[in-house]
Amino acid sequence: MEYISIQEALDKGEGTVDLRGWVYRERGSNKIKFIVLRDSSNIIQCVLKKKDFEEQWDDIDSLLIESSVKISGKIKKDERAPTGFEVKAEKIQIVQPAEPFPITKDQSRDFLLEKRHLWLRSRKMVAIMKIRHTVVGAIHKFFRDRGYYEFDPPIFQPSQAEGGATLFEVKYFKDKTYLSQTWQLYAEAAIFALEKIYDMSPTFRSEKSNTSRHLTEFWMAEMEAAWMELDEVTQVAKNEIRFIIKQVLKHNKKELEILGRDVKLIKHYAQADYPTIKYKEALKIVNEKYGMDVKWGKDLRTLEEAKIAEHFKVPVVVTHYPTEIMGFYKPPAKENPKEALCFDMIAPEGYCEIVGGSQRSLDVKDMKKRLEADGEDPNQYDWYFDLRKFGSVPHSGYGVGVERVIAWICGLDNIKDAIPFPRTMNRYKP
Ligand code: 4AD
Ligand code: MG
Repeated sequence: MEYISIQEALDKGEGTVDLRGWVYRERGSNKIKFIVLRDSSNIIQCVLKKKDFEEQWDDIDSLLIESSVKISGKIKKDERAPTGFEVKAEKIQIVQPAEPFPITKDQSRDFLLEKRHLWLRSRKMVAIMKIRHTVVGAIHKFFRDRGYYEFDPPIFQPSQAEGGATLFEVKYFKDKTYLSQTWQLYAEAAIFALEKIYDMSPTFRSEKSNTSRHLTEFWMAEMEAAWMELDEVTQVAKNEIRFIIKQVLKHNKKELEILGRDVKLIKHYAQADYPTIKYKEALKIVNEKYGMDVKWGKDLRTLEEAKIAEHFKVPVVVTHYPTEIMGFYKPPAKENPKEALCFDMIAPEGYCEIVGGSQRSLDVKDMKKRLEADGEDPNQYDWYFDLRKFGSVPHSGYGVGVERVIAWICGLDNIKDAIPFPRTMNRYKP
C-alpha cells in the first residue's frame, strides 16, 4: 500500500487515498464516527459508518484522540469539513489505541509546559516548528549565498564575553569552565582565516529573570566579518532579517494563518526600510513623545524599546549606546568616545531586541581596563589580545536571537513557544 500525506490527499481531491496518522478529534453516534485525522502535513475529516465496519465497530467507537490509525477510503469535497474535504473510510487499521490524552481544552501555560512532549503535536506547535525550520534554513542560505563560511565555535569556554553575571559554570574535571554565551571571541580569531563567517549554535545564559523574552538555553545566529565597520554590519543585519521574513512568507503562509498572524503585516516587514537612529535620538523619542524621563547613560529597557518600535512600526536599528554601559569589546567612537560603535535591532509589537552587535575594539589597553573595571582577570583573555598583534584589521559582527525572531514572526506572547523544549530559570524538564 502506498501511503500519501494528508496534504497530498487534499491536493489530489478525488479517488482512493491511503492515509496514516493520529486521531486529532473524534465524535460520533452509535451509527457513525467522525475522525479528524492528523499527520505532519495537515488534518482531514474521515467518516466511518457502522454498517461498513460491523466487526471492528466496538474498537472504532471507543477510539480516543491521539490513537494511531491507518485509513483508506474515497476522498471528496465537503464544505463542512475542517479542511474542505472528507474521506469516506473503507478500511481502518488501529495501530495503537491511545489512553485518555491528558491535554484537554483551556489548559494553563504551565500545564502545557509540563506536558510539552505531548503538546508538541498541537497545531500551534507544529506551525511554529515549521516556521522555525524555515527561519534556520533561511539563515544558512542567507550567509552561504553571500560567501560566508560556517564556523563552529567551542561551547565550553574559559571566560565571559557578555557579563559574568549570566555565566553557567560547568565542572570540568578538576577545573571549572562555562557554557558559551556567544561565539564572538572565537569568531574574532577565525575571521583572520576565513574573513566572513557565520554560525548558529546553542547559547547559554543564567538569566535570573522570568520574562516572556528570556531563555537560559537559546540559539544564536551570529556573523563576523573582517574589513567591516558599523554602518555596513547594520545593513547586513537588516538584509538578513528581511530575507528570513521573505522565506517564511514563501514557505509558511498556511502556518502564519494557523497562528492567526496578519500576513499583510509580515509582508510589510519583509519590504520596509528599517531606520537607523542613534541612542541619543532614541532618548529624545521616549522622553519627548512618550513623556518618559530616561537620562543619558541608562541602558534602554524593554519598556523604552517598545516605545521606540511603536514610533517606527518596523524594526529599528539603534546605534551608539553609552560606552560605559557596554561590553569591553565595543569600541568608543573617535568623534565622541562616550558613544560606542555598537547596535541593537529592535522589533516592533513589543518584541524588542532581536539583534545585538558592534564593531570590535582594537585597543588592547582600553579593553583590559574595562575588563578590570568589570572585575575580570585580563590574563584570561591573553589569547584574544594576541589577535590584535598579528595583522589586526577593523571587523564587526552581530548575533540574532533565533527564538526572539521566531516569536516575533509568529506573533507569540511568550518566547518559550519558539523553541520545542524551553529552558528557563524555573524549568529544565521534560
Ligand atoms: O545582545 P547579545 O548579548 O549580543 C552578543 O552576545 C554578541 N556577542 C553577539 C555578537 O556580536 N556576535 O545577544 C544577541 C541576541 C540578542 O539581541 C537577543 O536577540 C538574543 O541574542 N538573546 C536572547 N534570546 C533569548 N534568551 C536570552 N536570554 C537572550 N539573550 C540574548
Ligand atoms: Mg544585547
